[in-house]
Amino acid sequence: MNSISGKKIILGVCGSIAAYKSAFLLRELQRADAEVRVVMTPSAANFIAPLTFSALSRSQVYMDMFPEKSTSMGTWHIDLGLWADAMIIAPVTASTIAKLAHGIADNFLTSLVLALRAPLVIAPAMDVDMFVHPATASNIAKLMERGVHVIQPEEGELASGLSGKGRLPEVDTIMKYMNDFFLGYHRDLAGKKVLVTAGPTQEPIDAVRFISNRSSGKMGFAVAAAAANRGAEVRLITGPVGLETPQNVSRENVGTAEEMFTALERNVDWCDVLVMTAAVSDYRAENIPDRKIKKDEFAGGKASVSLVENTDILKALAPRKGNRLFVGFALETDNVIDNAKRKLKSKSLDAIVVNNPRVEGAGFGTETNKVTIISGRDESQTDLPMLSKYEVADRIFDHILTLH
Ligand SMILES: Cc1cc2nc3c(=O)[nH]c(=O)nc-3n(C[C@H](O)[C@H](O)[C@H](O)COP(=O)(O)O)c2cc1C
Repeated sequence: MNSISGKKIILGVCGSIAAYKSAFLLRELQRADAEVRVVMTPSAANFIAPLTFSALSRSQVYMDMFPEKSTSMGTWHIDLGLWADAMIIAPVTASTIAKLAHGIADNFLTSLVLALRAPLVIAPAMDVDMFVHPATASNIAKLMERGVHVIQPEEGELASGLSGKGRLPEVDTIMKYMNDFFLGYHRDLAGKKVLVTAGPTQEPIDAVRFISNRSSGKMGFAVAAAAANRGAEVRLITGPVGLETPQNVSRENVGTAEEMFTALERNVDWCDVLVMTAAVSDYRAENIPDRKIKKDEFAGGKASVSLVENTDILKALAPRKGNRLFVGFALETDNVIDNAKRKLKSKSLDAIVVNNPRVEGAGFGTETNKVTIISGRDESQTDLPMLSKYEVADRIFDHILTLH
């Protein structure tokens, strides 16, 4: 099925050696009956002439932020941002990725992206060292967290003569991605209400100190972004983290485990699916003085804090589960699978996602994760390879959809 037909698509082109492929992509999008407008960065004009695109698209090419002869009201970037059903930037360079990650609007293309109301797909193309550079990796992760769709580059021989990941995929691959994209593969949670918890909790022990854990919130934010991209209405309850709220996600910040519980109690009846990724503290300080405890209040060079158990949130919410799907996360360092299965049963979960922070690239703070999903139905295990946290989140929802 051709889901691209009739769609209004902005094709962005950046200054990459792969820019010539955009002309073929334009032809294929048109052949699939899309209405296409082309936007180029000024650098892209060093690689392919704007005339090629204007001739092929039979439309003007947008490149100058301040053209000498303007035929419109002057805010084309806004008009175009409202017009499109989707924008794809193929190829997108390391430089433009960095600008988009930081909201820089210094040319027509980057300004347009900030004004865009439609989904954005990017297809990075660059030399392998540029692609694996931590700056590029973290900029791409940032964009994915924000809900931008990334067509991963392919491995192979690069224009530089080097070999590795960085090649723009062939036009057929990009067309297939766009077809799946419009088909609604990414909208299969439309109409569903997804509640996500993320991050650590902080349990104060006095007016200035707290007990917490190393959770960065990245996994939960990826879950929220993936659910929103697939069309769900998403509410995210998060402990203290330094992350941006993904697009189309409503966020509530909490501090302690008890605040997390209260926020969940308020929201649980609303949701169809609850995904608990938060690393909630099991204990809190029994007494919390509203001042800083002084060093000399403790005798003999030893200090202790008396802890009391927090509410077991999943257990407490269980009576309100009804037809809702509850998915838990477990972070185990020992007897990983057995411990996770015990948690799955004792908390009546529909699935549990297990990660082991001792595996390199998995667990707290990383951009990637390696998890096993255990189904509550029959305890069957699905081992996923090392993936970005966003891809892990996507796979979790693939699994959740099989449970419905
Ligand atoms: C021959 C040549 C090929 C280049 N190819 C790429 C590329 O494939 N990917 C990339 O990120 N940058 C590439 N660059 C560097 C970009 O053109 C440069 O960073 C430019 O500022 C990008 O501008 P833009 O993102 O506004 O298009 C290349 C530069 C040259 C001279």
